[in-house]
Amino acid sequence: MSKIDLSTRDSFGSKFGIIAAAAGSAVGLGNIWKFPYVAGENGGGAFLLIYLFFVLLIGVPVMMSEFAIGRKGQKNAYGSFKVVAPGKKWHLIGFMGVIAAFFILAFYSAVAGWTLEYINQSVMHRFAGQSTEQLENTFGSFIAHPYRPIIWQLIFMLLTAGIVIAGVKKGIEKYTKLLMPMLLLLIIVLCIRSLTLPGGNEGLSFLFKPNFDKVTAKTVLFALGQAFFSLSLGMGALITYSSYFGKKENLAITAVEVSMADTLIAVLAGVVIFPAVFAFGIEPSMGPKLVFITLPKIFQQIPGGDFFGAIFFILLAVAALTSTISLMEVVVAFFSEELKITRKKATFIATLSISLLGVLASMSFGALSGFSILGKNIFDTLDYTASNILLPLGGFFIVIFVGWFASDNLIKNELTNEGTLKSKYFPYFIFIVRFIAPIAILAIFIYSIFVGGLG
Ligand code: PFF
Repeated sequence: MSKIDLSTRDSFGSKFGIIAAAAGSAVGLGNIWKFPYVAGENGGGAFLLIYLFFVLLIGVPVMMSEFAIGRKGQKNAYGSFKVVAPGKKWHLIGFMGVIAAFFILAFYSAVAGWTLEYINQSVMHRFAGQSTEQLENTFGSFIAHPYRPIIWQLIFMLLTAGIVIAGVKKGIEKYTKLLMPMLLLLIIVLCIRSLTLPGGNEGLSFLFKPNFDKVTAKTVLFALGQAFFSLSLGMGALITYSSYFGKKENLAITAVEVSMADTLIAVLAGVVIFPAVFAFGIEPSMGPKLVFITLPKIFQQIPGGDFFGAIFFILLAVAALTSTISLMEVVVAFFSEELKITRKKATFIATLSISLLGVLASMSFGALSGFSILGKNIFDTLDYTASNILLPLGGFFIVIFVGWFASDNLIKNELTNEGTLKSKYFPYFIFIVRFIAPIAILAIFIYSIFVGGLG
C-alpha cells in the first residue's frame, strides 16, 4: 500500500534463515517440556501416531494458509488481513492473534526464566544429594520467591528484545541460524546419553510401540491441541514471519519442512526423556513436574549428571528463546506498522508492557497466589485464554477465511508462486481447509471449553 513499506521492509535473506526462524518459533517449551509428558500420560506411541496424523492432515494445511496470507499481505498479522480482505472485518482475527501473542509471551517468559535458574543450579551442583521431596521444595520455593523468578524472566525478555530490535535479517535470522543448529546438537548429545543408560530400551518401546488401550476421545483432542500449540498456529506468528519470506519461496514445501522439524524435535525430546525415566523406574506419566523435579532427580544419579543437566536446561532455554522471539515479533510488527512508529520504539513498548503482565503471571506462584479470576490464577488465566480460546478460535477463522471467503485464485496464486509451481495437491488442500480442519478445530474448542483443560 505505502511506498515506504515496499522499499524499506525487512526480509529474510536465505532459505535456511526462513527455516531456522519458522522452525525456531515452532520448536519450544511445547516440544521439550510438554510433548513428553502429554505423550506419557496418553499412551506413548499411540499418542505419537495420532499426533503425527494431525500434524500432516491439519497442521500443514493450516500453516500453508497462514503463510499464504502473510506473504500476500506483506504486513503484520492484522495488516495482512487488511490487504487480503480489504473492507472486511477479517483483520480482527489478526488482532486476536496479537493479543494471543501478548498473553502467551507473558506466561511463557516466566517458564523460560525458570530454565535460566535451572541452568544456574545445574552448573552450581545444587541438585546433588537432594531427595525428591527436597527437589519439589526447591522448585516450589523458587517459583514463589519474591524476586528470583522475576529477575530471570526479565533477563529472558531483554534477551528476546535485544534480538528482535535488531530487525528481521540482522536480528531474528542471524540468531535463529545460530541457535537452531546448536539446539539440534544439544538434543543429539542428550539422546546419546539417554540411549546408553542401562534399561533405557523400555523407554523407547514405550514411545514407539503404540498401545491403543489408553486412547480415548480426550487423547485425540489433546493431540490436536498439542499440534496447534507446538506448530505455533492460529495466532499470527507464522503470518508475521511469512510476510518477510521471498516471493520465490515454496510455501507448501516450507510448511512441510517446518512441521517435520518440529515433530522431529518433539520425538527426540521423547527419546531423551523416556529411556532415562524408565532406566530409573519412574512412571512416564508424571505431568508438568517432569522437567523441573523428576529430571533433576535423574541427573543426580547418572554419570556426568550435572553436565548433562546443564546441557538439558540450556536446550530448553534455547528452544524457548527462538519461540519468544517470534511471539515478540508479532507484537512489534503490529505496533510499528499500525501505530507507524520505529521498530526500536515498538520493541521498547512491547517489552515493557508484556513484561508488566509477565511479572504478574510470575507472581501467581508467590505474592499473588491468593488472587484468582474465575478460579484460576493470573498465569493459568493467560495460558487458558490464549491456548484454549484465542488460538483455536484464530485457527478456526483462518481456515474458514481461506476455505470459504478468500478467492481460490488469490490463495492458489500465492501457494504456486503465480502458477510457476505444481498445484496438483490444491483440491485436497481446499477440501481440508473447508471441511476437515474447521470441524476438527471446533471439536477441540468445544471440548476444551466445556470439558476442560487442554492447556
Ligand atoms: N510453538 C511454541 C512451542 O511449542 O513451545 C509455542 C509458541 C510459540 C506458540 C510461538 C505460538 C507462537 F506464536
